[in-house]
Amino acid sequence: MRNIVLIGFMGTGKSTVGKRLAQSLSWNFVDTDCEIGEVTSLSVSEIFRRHGETRFRSEESIVVSRLSQQEQLVIATGGGTVLNPLNLSALAKNGIVIALHASLEAILSRIGHKNDRPLLKGPREAIEKLWSERQNVYVQADYIVDTSQKNVDEVVKEILLLLERVMKDELSDAAKDRNSGR
Ligand code: S3P
Repeated sequence: MRNIVLIGFMGTGKSTVGKRLAQSLSWNFVDTDCEIGEVTSLSVSEIFRRHGETRFRSEESIVVSRLSQQEQLVIATGGGTVLNPLNLSALAKNGIVIALHASLEAILSRIGHKNDRPLLKGPREAIEKLWSERQNVYVQADYIVDTSQKNVDEVVKEILLLLERVMKDELSDAAKDRNSGR
C-alpha cells in the first residue's frame, strides 16, 4: 500500500490534516519536521539558527529517503521539502502526492502572530514572493486540494473521497489489464 504524501506551503494544514487523515485510515502518521527534530534533538528553528538552512535541507533529504522506503504512512512534508526534485521523486515513487493549496491571505490569517517558522519571519512581501515562487513546484502533485475556505474536517473528507476514487480507478485499470492479458 503506497504512502499518502502531503505537500504544500507552510500553513496549508499538512500536519493537522495529515494526522486526522491517518486516524481515519488507521495508518501511521509522520511529519518530516518532527522526524528531523528527533534525529537531531533540535527544533527546526534551532537547526536554522545554529547550523543554517543547508544543514536542515540535508537532514530533510535523509528523512525523506528513509520514509519513502516505508509503506502505508501518511507523510506531512515541510513546505520546502519538495523544492529538491530528488525528494519529490522519492516520495512520488512510493506514494500518492497531494498538494494542499491555500491563498496567501488564508495562510497569513492561520499563522497569526505566534509564528516560529524561520522562513516566515520577514515582511509580507518576502512571504508573498516565496509563496508565488513555490506554486509551480506544488502543482507537480498528483492531486491538489484547495484548503483556503475549508476547515480540517472538510479537507479530510475531500481527501478521503479522492482516495476512494483513485483506488476504484486503479482496481478497474488492473482488472482491464488482466482481461486483456497484459
Ligand atoms: C519550511 C517549512 C517548514 C519547515 C521549515 C522550512 C519551508 O515546515 O520545514 O521551517 O521551507 O517552507 P511547515 O511547512 O510544516 O511549516
